[in-house]
Amino acid sequence: MLGFLPLLIYVLVAAANPIKRARQMLAENKGLTQKDYLVTHLPGLAENVPESEIPLMFAGQLPLYHENNTHYFFWKFVDRQKVERAQNRTIFWLNGGPGCLSMDGALMEAGPFRVNADREVTYNNGSWHRQGDIVFVDQPAGTGFSYSMDFDRELADVLWHFLTFLQRYFELFPEDVNNEILLAGESYAGQYIPYIADAVLARNRRLDSEKTGDSELSAADVKYNLRGLLIGNGYISPNEQGLSYVPFAVKAGLIDTNHPNWNDLLHAHEKCQKAVDRTSANNANHDANAFSVVDRTCDDVLNRLLEYTADALAPEYEQCTNMYDYTLKDSYPKCGMNWPPDLAYVSPFLAKEAVMSDLNLVFHKHWTECSGAVGSHLRAKNSAPAVDLLPDLLQHVEILLFHGNRDIICNYIGAELLIKKLEWGGQKGFSENALTYDWRHNGSVEGYVRSERNLTYVNVFDASHMVPFDKPEVSRAIVDLLYRDYDVRAEDGHKPELLTFPIDYVKPAADLGVTPTTADDATAQNTNSTSEVPTDAATNLTVLAELAAQSPVGTKPQNQPQSQISGIVRVIQLAVIVVLIWGVCALYSTYKSKPASIIKTKSTGRKKNVLWADELESAVKEPAKALSLIGKAFSKLTKPAETLGNYQRVDNEDIEMNEGIQVGDDFIIASDDEDVDVAVSREGR
Ligand SMILES: *[C@@H]1O[C@H](CO)[C@@H](O)[C@H](O)[C@H]1NC(C)=O
Ligand SMILES: *[C@@H]1O[C@H](CO)[C@@H](O)[C@H](O)[C@H]1NC(C)=O
Repeated sequence: MLGFLPLLIYVLVAAANPIKRARQMLAENKGLTQKDYLVTHLPGLAENVPESEIPLMFAGQLPLYHENNTHYFFWKFVDRQKVERAQNRTIFWLNGGPGCLSMDGALMEAGPFRVNADREVTYNNGSWHRQGDIVFVDQPAGTGFSYSMDFDRELADVLWHFLTFLQRYFELFPEDVNNEILLAGESYAGQYIPYIADAVLARNRRLDSEKTGDSELSAADVKYNLRGLLIGNGYISPNEQGLSYVPFAVKAGLIDTNHPNWNDLLHAHEKCQKAVDRTSANNANHDANAFSVVDRTCDDVLNRLLEYTADALAPEYEQCTNMYDYTLKDSYPKCGMNWPPDLAYVSPFLAKEAVMSDLNLVFHKHWTECSGAVGSHLRAKNSAPAVDLLPDLLQHVEILLFHGNRDIICNYIGAELLIKKLEWGGQKGFSENALTYDWRHNGSVEGYVRSERNLTYVNVFDASHMVPFDKPEVSRAIVDLLYRDYDVRAEDGHKPELLTFPIDYVKPAADLGVTPTTADDATAQNTNSTSEVPTDAATNLTVLAELAAQSPVGTKPQNQPQSQISGIVRVIQLAVIVVLIWGVCALYSTYKSKPASIIKTKSTGRKKNVLWADELESAVKEPAKALSLIGKAFSKLTKPAETLGNYQRVDNEDIEMNEGIQVGDDFIIASDDEDVDVAVSREGR
């Protein structure tokens, strides 16, 4: 029977060639497939969320670097009933801190779920995942469920690692690599996002210049279709935004000139002004030492403001103004850090072992909303503030800054100051021609909008630092503002208005053509270029059937290259069977004609005259290896889905290992000591 092996091996080697590419890509992902990241269960999901609204979900800790055991946690939501305009879009969402996890965004803001008092998910009908696939990423390493042996110190580290994350992500989801990408986020992500966008554009330019004309592009060679940036209450120009605290506090009625500490506050403001003058002068001189995202001088203004306006005699939770929403109160000195109230549910929810298992965590990390260790390492001492990157970025992508008007820490007055001073597109600030539009969503005025030369500024009424927390459905329409998916109403004698609509709203036929939109062109480009990218055939073998079975009508159809490749695989399988039958016949006839020779080969181990075996002698010498190949071949033929990913869930254990992966090969389990919970100095989240 052993003489049979070489034939099989030969056939397998021959068969392997067409799917070599797929194998390679699989290897790059260390054997992990989409199936390993599928999320099918969460507490409350089946009970509280209508079945048709349950998104297709993937989550887990994606390996970035083997050497220092870096893994980034992501959670991806895909709408099963995508509206037309949400096709071919991927939104990456980042929260701030630094060091605050993006699960804030997923479970309290732009994601499809909220968490209730029973620690179960409920449905958020204003979720952004209906505007495009949305992916919440815990980063930089150490944040949330992401981990590493190292911490980032400069924004250059952050962007570099995020680019690696994108590469790994698109290896896992190659069908998305041509999607339009939106980078969205909040607060300190106002630093991350411009840096990452700048790196993505630089990467695109490099790929352009390296273009070899080679037709075979892997996901790693594809330019990213960066469409726009959405920054909510961003910490973009920290020092200058520091100058906004006093004007904002006065306007909001938090303090006035009669206050006993008014002069002290003014003194702090003056020191902030001097720090700003100093850094802007140094920046203008390109003095590298002066680059600093955070100069603590201006933080002092906010700290004093909160201190001076605190009321020690009030009940505990009403002593201090909430720095994220001036209309609310909190205990002193927390001053907003106990807010939002959902935090009380989200924290224990994410600390549940069962939830961590549902989210496919390999490493069950102790949960903290904001990692002090991340914040204390990322001082960004040699990083220019992100505002410096905006003029260049605006030549290539649309940037939308939105500000909830109740936020103090990254307030709208600071944003308006920043824009006034910003020089881009050949001019300083918005020109006289840039009209201020009232923004009317679903009939009611929700804010105002100014837009010019690729920069859009949105002021959202009655909203805090976390706009999607207060106004989920309204915040979702901000994506429409970026895409200019709105109607314009400018009648004589009225303030001009921009009108946006609920996600499912279908405009009456008469209205069609009123709305200028650029999305169509971009989508057309997408469709054309999709076929350039090879897809991960092996992944699709395991996932396709399962996803197809799960996905109701309307889910994004899988791309054509995938079905082509799985077609090839099927042909190969058929060929293997045919050759096997032929091999049995050949074996039989050889045995019939020269029985002695075969027996002799087997017993002596010497090469004999079995023709088809000659060139595969080495494999024959290692029967164990050959046997395992045979085993694989048979299981591939019979049940392909189970040979490629055998993820086993082990509940009640800190560490889950994929059975197929060796310790030291892929997952070195991080030590837990990175999670030092020192007091968080929070720039915002
Ligand atoms: C969404 O949910 C909110 C809060 O439960 C509700 O007030 C609103 O009417 C809902 N909107 C839609 C479109 O169902
Ligand atoms: C705005 O961005 C587009 C690319 O999306 C670019 O072609 C155009 O020149 C930019 N406009 C300005 C004023 O920089």
